[in-house]
Amino acid sequence: MAKLGWLVVSLSLFVLVTDLCEAISSCNGPCKTLNDCDGQLICIRGKCDDDPDVGSHVCSNGGGGGGSSPPSGNSCQPFSHKVCKGTSHPQYKCSPPVTSSTRAILTNNDFSQGGDGGGPSECDDKFHSNSELIVALSTGWYNRGSRCGKKIKITARNGKSVLAKVVDECDSINGCDTEHAQQPPCRNNIVDASNAVWDALGLDIDVGEEPINWSDVN
Ligand SMILES: *[C@@H]1O[C@H](CO)[C@@H](O)[C@H](O)[C@H]1NC(C)=O
Repeated sequence: MAKLGWLVVSLSLFVLVTDLCEAISSCNGPCKTLNDCDGQLICIRGKCDDDPDVGSHVCSNGGGGGGSSPPSGNSCQPFSHKVCKGTSHPQYKCSPPVTSSTRAILTNNDFSQGGDGGGPSECDDKFHSNSELIVALSTGWYNRGSRCGKKIKITARNGKSVLAKVVDECDSINGCDTEHAQQPPCRNNIVDASNAVWDALGLDIDVGEEPINWSDVN
């Protein structure tokens, strides 16, 4: 009788604890719905993570040195795919975490009216001269305009670096329409830069893409 009573108590404790855990998962904790996650976190693929729409960095900043945490690049997963001209392209609301040396791919953008950059820049609704030191950032890094008008430092493999102003978003969600010059959604790790930026870094625009590192400038 005493044994059975203990079993019942243990079982209900177990259920209670399990319920509690499910109700308030923190970063990377299991979840079924948004309500299962702590604070501003959302449920992505069964795990609680930062909500890119809110722009919190609770989970991405928590890593570092643990060894048990997955590579930072894996923390940002596509939420869907868009098919343009028969090819499927991932759509992202997030970008990899920003550090003091954030790895990215430098591409070339035409910010002028009538150029292949599509509509006017997202930050100021204006077109820009390609002789300005300006960039567009992937949706996650653009972060709802929080970097608009601010400068980032871009460093190339050749050791050269330049400061460039954020004026636009490289849209990682939408694409394949007139506004985006029929381009597929942007990848999530793009710094899309003017001719002036490429020139300042001593890079050949014809190459199309170059690995770079960037950081926020205070
Ligand atoms: C970016 O930084 C990482 C480490 O900080 C370094 O290993 C890599 O070579 C750098 N890449 C470029 C293009 O400078």
